[in-house]
Amino acid sequence: MIKHLKVPDNRAQEAKLFLEESKALHDSFLPIKKKGYILWPLKFVVDGEIVECEGIKSTRISRDYRLRLSEEIRNIAPRAFDIFGDIAILKLSEEALQYSKNISEALLESHTNIKKIALDLGVKGDFRVRDLEMIIGDDNFVSTHKENGFEFNLDISKVYFSPRLAMERKRVYDDAKSGEYVLDAFAGASPFAVTLASKGCKVTAVDWNPESERWSHKNFKLNNISESDYDFFCSKIEDILTELSLYDRIIMNNPTNPLPYLKDLSTKLKPEGVIHLYKIVDNDENFQISDYLDLSYKCILERVVHPYSPMSSLMVFDIIKSVSNVQTTNQ
Ligand SMILES: C[S@@+](CC[C@H](N)C(=O)[O-])C[C@H]1O[C@@H](n2cnc3c(N)ncnc32)[C@H](O)[C@@H]1O
Repeated sequence: MIKHLKVPDNRAQEAKLFLEESKALHDSFLPIKKKGYILWPLKFVVDGEIVECEGIKSTRISRDYRLRLSEEIRNIAPRAFDIFGDIAILKLSEEALQYSKNISEALLESHTNIKKIALDLGVKGDFRVRDLEMIIGDDNFVSTHKENGFEFNLDISKVYFSPRLAMERKRVYDDAKSGEYVLDAFAGASPFAVTLASKGCKVTAVDWNPESERWSHKNFKLNNISESDYDFFCSKIEDILTELSLYDRIIMNNPTNPLPYLKDLSTKLKPEGVIHLYKIVDNDENFQISDYLDLSYKCILERVVHPYSPMSSLMVFDIIKSVSNVQTTNQ
C-alpha cells in the first residue's frame, strides 16, 4: 500500500510542484485520477489529506533528466526548474556550477521542447528581474510562453514573469466576472491583466519598468485584447493614485514588499470588491494579515501558492471590503 496526497483537480499542478520541491513525490508510481480529485503518490507523509491505497507502478521511461548524468553529478543536479517558453531556467548550487554544461546537455536531451538553458542568479532590483546567464543557446532571452490558453511573449531578462503562477492566474480568472473593473498594480508583462481582460474585465495595468510597458502592449495584442479594454500606465503606483478610479478587483503581486501599498490601494476598492495580495512569508513567522487591515476589510482566504525558498513561501491573501462596515462608516 502506498500513501497518497488527495487534492482537488484545481489544485493538482500546484500540489505536484510542492511535492516535487519537497522531494515527497514518489516518481516510481503514477498519480491516480478520480472524479474531482487526484491522488499523488508519496515517498513520505506531508500535511494534507492522506489516502492509503494500492499504488500504480509507473512503466513509463522516466522524464527525470538526471538519470542521464553520472551518479556524482546526479546527486547535486536540481530536480525541479522553471520553463519559460523554450528556455529552461536552472538554479545551481555552488558545487553543481562546475557541471553546468553536463547538467544542461542532459536536460536538453530529455526535453525536446527546451532549446536553451539559462542559469538563474536570482531575482534582483526594483524591477524584480532575473539575473540570467545563458549556459546553452544564443544570448537572447525572448521567448513565448503558453499558459492557460494564452501566449506571453517577453524578454525574461528584462521583465519579471513567473510560470509558477499559472494556477493562481486561473483561480483569479475563475473568480472574476465579465464587466469588472480591475487594477493590476504591479503588472510586469501583464499576464494577470491579459487573462482578466480576456474574460471581459476592463483592466488598468501599472508598472514602472519601461520594459513592462513594451511587453504588456505586445501581450494584449497577441491575445486579441482590444485597446479600448485596457490601459497601461508606466509609473510607480504611488505616483498615480489620484488618477485611478474605483475597482472591483485589485491584483497586488509585489510579493517582496506589498504592505506599504495596502492602505492606499484598499481605498481604491469598491464595496464587495476583492484584493489579491501576494506576500513572501517566512515559514516560522506568525504573519497575520489582519494586523494590516482596518475594520472595513476582511481576509476571506489565505493559502500557500508555492514554496519560495527552503525557509519561506509565497502566500496569497484575498481581502474583501465589507458592505456593512462601509455603510456603517457612511452613516
Ligand atoms: C513580482 S513582479 C510581478 C509581475 C506580474 N504581476 C506577474 O505576475 O508576472 C513585481 C512588479 O512590480 C513592479 N514594481 C515594483 N514596485 C513598483 C511600484 N512602486 N509601482 C509600480 N510597479 C512596481 C516591478 O517592476 C515588477 O515588474
